[in-house]
Amino acid sequence: MTTGARTLYQQLGGEAEVRALVDRFYDAMEVLPEAASIRAMHPRNLQGSRDKLFEFLSGWLGGPPIYIQKRGHPRLRARHMPFAIGTPEAAAWMLCMADALEKLPPEVPQLTREVLFSQLGQVASFMRNQPGDSPG
Ligand code: HEM
Repeated sequence: MTTGARTLYQQLGGEAEVRALVDRFYDAMEVLPEAASIRAMHPRNLQGSRDKLFEFLSGWLGGPPIYIQKRGHPRLRARHMPFAIGTPEAAAWMLCMADALEKLPPEVPQLTREVLFSQLGQVASFMRNQPGDSPG
């Protein structure tokens, strides 16, 4: 996804910043009480989850499509079907992401942060798979 001439990947500062964002995201998931239910869905060791989210976001943000190259089409909604994701779980995921986005380097423009938060919110919403709580 792009906004203007530079990809979001570039606006964020490239690979190291995307990796750091994902690390902060899962660090937040480890400690935030509101995220306990979604933390419990993940493996005890989060390294594989960190790698997969980094690889996915890299391509999704307009950088190298590492996830697709390594693992094929993400089929993100199907891959989340084994987990009971409703509105509270999507909100918990976004709370961790908000925490991670807050700590982006100061030079990342406010608009970039807002676009990213809004687009990720749409994906999180799309992952919902509970009766009456699905994306429709
Ligand atoms: C809405 C709330 C969400 C919950 C509760 C959730 C939960 C999970 C869980 C439990 C896994 C398995 C972890 C693992 O295999 O290590 C997973 C995998 C994954 N999630 Fe989410 N997720 C959510 C939203 C999202 C969003 C918004 C994105 C992308 C922007 C995303 C991207 C991924 C990716 C790329 C994987 C790895 C898929 C694979 O290759 O198996 N997730 N998620």
